[in-house]
Amino acid sequence: MAAMRRRQKDDSKGAMIASGIVFLLLVAALVTVAVVLWEEKALDVPSFILQKTNGDAIYASLKNLTSEPHTAGTEADQRQAEWVAQQWREQGLDSVKLVPYEVLLSYPDTDTENTVNVVDEGGNVLWASQGRQPPLWPGEEHPGVLPTFNAYSASGVVQGEVVYAFLGRDEDFEYLEEHNVSVSGCIVLIRYGDLFRGNQVRAAEKKGAGGVLLFLDPAVVSPEGQDEAHVYPNTVFAPPQAAQLGTTMLGNGDPLTPFYPSLESAFRIPEDEADIPKIPVQPLSYSDAAFILSRMGGEEAPEEWQRGLNLTYRLGPGLLDPTLNTSLSVHTHNQRVTVYNVVATLRGAVEPDRYVLLGNHRDAWIFGGVDPSSATASLLEVTRLYGLLLQGGWRPRRSLVFCSWAAEEYGLVGSTEWTEQFSTHLKSRAVAYLNVDMVFEGTYSFISMASPLLQETIVRVTQMVPNPDQEEAAAGRGYLYDTWLQRQPDTLHPGRPRFLGIGSGSDFASFQHVLGVPCMDMFYTAAPDTPSLPLYHTLYETFHLARNLYDPEMEYNVALTRTWALVAYFLSNEAVVPFSVHLYGEFLTEALLDLEAAYEDLLNQTQPLLNHLREAVSNFSAVTTNWTANLVSLQLDDPMAVRAANDAQMMLDRAFLDPRGLPGRPHFNHVVMAPSSSNTYASQSFAGLQDLLADLPYLPPDEQAIRWRQINKHLAAVIHLIRAAANTLTGELW
Ligand SMILES: *[C@@H]1O[C@H](CO)[C@@H](O)[C@H](O)[C@H]1NC(C)=O
Ligand SMILES: *[C@@H]1O[C@H](CO)[C@@H](O)[C@H](O)[C@H]1NC(C)=O
Ligand SMILES: *[C@@H]1O[C@H](CO)[C@@H](O)[C@H](O)[C@H]1NC(C)=O
Ligand SMILES: *[C@@H]1O[C@H](CO)[C@@H](O)[C@H](O)[C@H]1NC(C)=O
Ligand SMILES: *[C@@H]1O[C@H](CO)[C@@H](O)[C@H](O)[C@H]1NC(C)=O
Ligand SMILES: *[C@@H]1O[C@H](CO)[C@@H](O)[C@H](O)[C@H]1NC(C)=O
Ligand SMILES: *[C@@H]1O[C@H](CO)[C@@H](O)[C@H](O)[C@H]1NC(C)=O
Repeated sequence: MAAMRRRQKDDSKGAMIASGIVFLLLVAALVTVAVVLWEEKALDVPSFILQKTNGDAIYASLKNLTSEPHTAGTEADQRQAEWVAQQWREQGLDSVKLVPYEVLLSYPDTDTENTVNVVDEGGNVLWASQGRQPPLWPGEEHPGVLPTFNAYSASGVVQGEVVYAFLGRDEDFEYLEEHNVSVSGCIVLIRYGDLFRGNQVRAAEKKGAGGVLLFLDPAVVSPEGQDEAHVYPNTVFAPPQAAQLGTTMLGNGDPLTPFYPSLESAFRIPEDEADIPKIPVQPLSYSDAAFILSRMGGEEAPEEWQRGLNLTYRLGPGLLDPTLNTSLSVHTHNQRVTVYNVVATLRGAVEPDRYVLLGNHRDAWIFGGVDPSSATASLLEVTRLYGLLLQGGWRPRRSLVFCSWAAEEYGLVGSTEWTEQFSTHLKSRAVAYLNVDMVFEGTYSFISMASPLLQETIVRVTQMVPNPDQEEAAAGRGYLYDTWLQRQPDTLHPGRPRFLGIGSGSDFASFQHVLGVPCMDMFYTAAPDTPSLPLYHTLYETFHLARNLYDPEMEYNVALTRTWALVAYFLSNEAVVPFSVHLYGEFLTEALLDLEAAYEDLLNQTQPLLNHLREAVSNFSAVTTNWTANLVSLQLDDPMAVRAANDAQMMLDRAFLDPRGLPGRPHFNHVVMAPSSSNTYASQSFAGLQDLLADLPYLPPDEQAIRWRQINKHLAAVIHLIRAAANTLTGELW
């Protein structure tokens, strides 16, 4: 900046002695200065972002967003959509649109609360669980706070004996079966944690459960004690009355319009055909869970199932007192409502038809202090910075698209409908999608889930962002990257920080797994063996929690905001999109080794296909390494060559899409990277193969034959698609 000012002063001196010719020369000089200014400004964007990211602005947005509950589809949600749109208009972005979809959401009855009851033989209710979480901090008594519920639960009253099924995994139900405890018709008590609740409910439903209770266990959410001093509002840990809301739908998007956008013209399937639970489901606090668990009969549960409540966890079925029984009474209903994505753009100067997208969802279960509003506030700061750059005459090379998604909490509804509506554009034009769902689930270390293509750019950016952890900075780890590397090392690759695989659980899912657009998500994570955001989806996930208990100085949010804005800058601005193509080769090589380690004897039986797979992976790996090595000799002054190289890189992730979907999972297309089918939150490589191989040995012989056919068919497709991916880089049709 100082250099620019000097140059301008010299020019104005020259103008004072100007003759006509000198004046012309001066005009030429000014043009040169303008070009230099442009270039210097362009070079200066990273420091502009680092300098101007403003914690007070983030604080103000967060305060506004968390001032009322903003559950998807409510009036408050629509007000916030308009508020976000208004901010973006004021910040000067090129276009700002509200994009509506009419979708099926789910709400509790605000008059008749959902409860689980202890009843006597006459059906009289002797005890009922709490239908609402009591306010513990000013502002929490807001009339917009919904009673406790799980979205898309069936409604109804079920009576049945209670059974404890720990985490509700397949192996937990197997344990119950081995111990002669049938869950058929029973109310199954399952602990929240480790896996997505949709998978827990699905597993219980498959076993014939009559209803499901999802409870928080103090071992997970308040390990330091359950007394006032150790829980919210004094700490980040859960008080006994906290209950976790959340969706129970396993799929993504509007349940009535699978694969297609829920526009007015959409074909809607009948509600009873929608892929949502057919049994009632209800969340439970640990004080209510303790009431039931302490009265249960049956065998003692195994050691691993004994957790943080001061009682002996028993399997059931039923209560110790044979005259008592349990019933679950749920009055949650599904309802079609209109929800709004807000989408704003900043047009690229050179390649406006190439998009770098940034997104976060806007809807919260209640106040959304962390999930999602901490990141909505961050996104509003990213756009404020880019708005300022735009006013200063700067534009990125490629377009930036900013997305505030609707109804994510119900099952990624807003982002899924939008990617369905614009799939053609996105498949051919989207460079990357950068998601932040929430800024922190702890403050221990930065962590990111990302496509291998984005990993090097993320690393490079975190090496520029000052460390928000003052103790760490004082210990000589000055950058975000340093603590990440120190606390989350990649054990497989010494000297590199760890990345997580990209599963589902937020709005990147359709981009990565359906459209093949490279994605990332990032946040601060908690230390190992300490709870991640214990108050997640409870009433107590508030501004007080986010601001006073997690990030008093807004430093963590500022650091993540800088990272987000900078990753977007490099992807949208460098002539050659900075994709780490060679890491994709490494990823696939290691994924194959993992697959072979897990299923060596079975895979041996697929010969000669297995050898083809090995060769395809090894060729792919060689091609990607070669690509990175050759890129340095790309003619940067040849726009067509640059565009061709970028297109080849962009097609790489798309090449892995099987149009027919994964076996039995038509809504996921990416064959080398998918959410795990037993835990939607987690990522699994070669998920289709893993699913087909996992239970093969346990199938009866006639079904095994059918399964082998499916394995060979899918394996052949995978081999083909890996070769196709290598071909996007070598570009040879001949
Ligand atoms: C949030 O912003 C809107 C629009 O500027 C304003 O009307 C409203 O009062 C603000 N709310 C809070 C709680 O700051
Ligand atoms: C509890 O209710 C279920 C369903 O009505 C019934 O099958 C079961 O026998 C009852 N158990 C007791 C102990 O009353
Ligand atoms: C389960 O029932 C079977 C058949 O009645 C019995 O042989 C077995 O011992 C029982 N198992 C347990 C763990 O009680
Ligand atoms: C656990 O419960 C037992 C029996 O009810 C009681 O004596 C003991 O004090 C309790 N322990 C804690 C840590 O609350
Ligand atoms: C798989 O095949 C290889 C080569 O034929 C052989 O060395 C290996 O022992 C086989 N592994 C298993 C588990 O069958
Ligand atoms: C792998 O590369 C080798 C050598 O370039 C080539 O001969 C072979 O056909 C390739 N195989 C596949 C599966 O692409
Ligand atoms: C690597 O790149 C060189 C130079 O472009 C090319 O000749 C060679 O065939 C490539 N090898 C592979 C495995 O792609």
